[in-house]
Amino acid sequence: MRVEDNIKKIAADLLAYYDVHARKLPWRAPPGANAADPYRIWLSEVMLQQTTVAAVGPYFAKFTKRWPDVAALAAEEDAEVMAAWAGLGYYARARNLLACARAVADAHGGTFPDTEEGLRALPGVGAYTAAAVAAIAFGRRAVVVDANVERVVARLFAIATPLPAARPEIRSATDVITPDLRAGDFAQAMMDLGATICTARNPACGICPLRDDCAAVLTADPAAFPIKAAKKAKPHRLGHGWWIERPDGHVWLVRRPDKGMLGGMRALPSSEWNDAPDGTPPLVARWRRVAEPVAHVFTHFSLALTVHHAHVGQDVTPPGDGEWWPVAEIGRAGLPTLFARAAEAAMKEGKKDARL
Ligand code: ADE
Repeated sequence: MRVEDNIKKIAADLLAYYDVHARKLPWRAPPGANAADPYRIWLSEVMLQQTTVAAVGPYFAKFTKRWPDVAALAAEEDAEVMAAWAGLGYYARARNLLACARAVADAHGGTFPDTEEGLRALPGVGAYTAAAVAAIAFGRRAVVVDANVERVVARLFAIATPLPAARPEIRSATDVITPDLRAGDFAQAMMDLGATICTARNPACGICPLRDDCAAVLTADPAAFPIKAAKKAKPHRLGHGWWIERPDGHVWLVRRPDKGMLGGMRALPSSEWNDAPDGTPPLVARWRRVAEPVAHVFTHFSLALTVHHAHVGQDVTPPGDGEWWPVAEIGRAGLPTLFARAAEAAMKEGKKDARL
């Protein structure tokens, strides 16, 4: 077979698989359909970055019910959207989401640009999102590379260069195999294949529709692709968080600065996170330290947050900006996962305190 025919065969095999096996996902139009709603596609793609389909499902349902179109989302208060995002992680995505929704509503009359270039010019829309929305929502030919696609392509061509240096090579190989028609279905089919068959560990090569097209399957260990550069150990940081509770069952919550980790999210007052954080509490009280720090892993470091608990008088106001939040409603505060877990630990400690 000529090389070009072989290349065409990959897309043909993959689309034939997708026509039968496409996962039914809430934002997805059926294979071959041209009726996807750009708002829903864009929202799903932002949510799906670094987050699994299973985790995104309930958030996608909640967002589209509450904000059925981009104008509704654009008109919402920042704090409401940040709170609705709580638990999904990577909170810069939520801030970018709002900035983008407002740009579409204000500068584009509520209609998403329909080219990769136009999408790329929106705030917070990177190369991946622009390509994915152009292809999936608008049927444009675009080269869509996420971690699943990266893995599938590295295997198809048995790319020997380790990541991240292999990225340009993987991208141009993806470009070569992307068809002119149905590029959106092709991208989603690659993602489905990566999520269900060409998985990171134990790929199911025996049932793979691209088995005959794959170079890695001929090697001793197909799962070794993409080759990874040796990982650097993640730095470990320490921090303190303070649960300050009033007799009327309210706890003091602050909002984190917009810039930086968990920016714009509600939180417990806390120290800097570093090797030797300052453990001086925000006010004088009878503090109890929760024995087991809350361990949390972020992308670039892991954190052990020591949680402290105190009951204060009804007339006390802790320093700085913050608000008294009903403890019984803590689930509605939109705390990011780290602080939701810290709150849980503090409440347990508080119960012990009450028994003393
Ligand atoms: N991951 C990111 N985008 C996706 C999509 N459109 N379908 C399935 N998985 C995805």
